[in-house]
Amino acid sequence: MSTQAREVPAGAPLLAARGLVKSYGRTEALRGAALDLYAGEILAVSGASGSGKSTLLHCLSGIVRPDAGSVSYGREQLDRLPEERLSELRRTDFGVVFQFGQLIPELPVIDNVALPLLLAGVPRAEAHTRADAWLERFGVRGQRELRPGEMSGGQVQRAALARALVTGPRVVFADEPTGALDSLGGEQVMTALAHAARETHTAVVLITHDAQVAAYADREVRLHDGTVQESPVLPQAVAHDH
Ligand SMILES: Nc1ncnc2c1ncn2[C@@H]1O[C@H](COP(=O)(O)OP(=O)(O)OP(=O)(O)O)[C@@H](O)[C@H]1O
Ligand SMILES: [Mg+2]
Repeated sequence: MSTQAREVPAGAPLLAARGLVKSYGRTEALRGAALDLYAGEILAVSGASGSGKSTLLHCLSGIVRPDAGSVSYGREQLDRLPEERLSELRRTDFGVVFQFGQLIPELPVIDNVALPLLLAGVPRAEAHTRADAWLERFGVRGQRELRPGEMSGGQVQRAALARALVTGPRVVFADEPTGALDSLGGEQVMTALAHAARETHTAVVLITHDAQVAAYADREVRLHDGTVQESPVLPQAVAHDH
């Protein structure tokens, strides 16, 4: 497990993005976005469709390299790291839930969720036990033998969250994790995610369109045309551990 990046000075953010710029052809998805994320904090990121939310999440998690700007994670600067170190961080320190699920279609959900543990060398029986516990928390243990194509969109999202949390990451990046759920399902999943994050002191970057979902966060920022708009700190963040 990586510990090097985890040592952040007291009061410093765990993850800090500055001046992020990312274009796709003529589309400027990010135009100088900046963001701080503190250890254990749940940060909601909202904004209109096309405002750059997914692009920001991909830059923060080291999946996409920005054209300009920096992302620091503890003492490391993601935009300068070699690909191998970025992959390692994604296996150990980061859990990512993509907007459109991205489970492996050929594998039953239990194997999808156990996979990050197997890749980290955890024995199969233990990996399955831990994966089952996370499936249970997100209410999809009954679907453990199904392949993603046999599950509903909401069930796939629940399983994707289980997979993101199974390794005990330091930061979970979740792109609209309740987008395919009705409001009751969304509430259940958010309650499970928020409890898990609080219990394990995991920071969460939560992309959402939904104000009810954002209410589970300590703090909310809005993206507008590729920049992050300042927003007031919600009261519960003041008492939070950073
Ligand atoms: N791989 C890509 N190739 C080309 N253009 C892209 C790509 N990814 C994003 N874009 C463009 O960048 C802009 C920002 O996209 P992004 O996916 O970050 O928005 P978003 O805020 O996540 O939107 P949504 O709420 O619809 O998911 C959009 O104009 C989009 O068309
Ligand atoms: Mg998106």
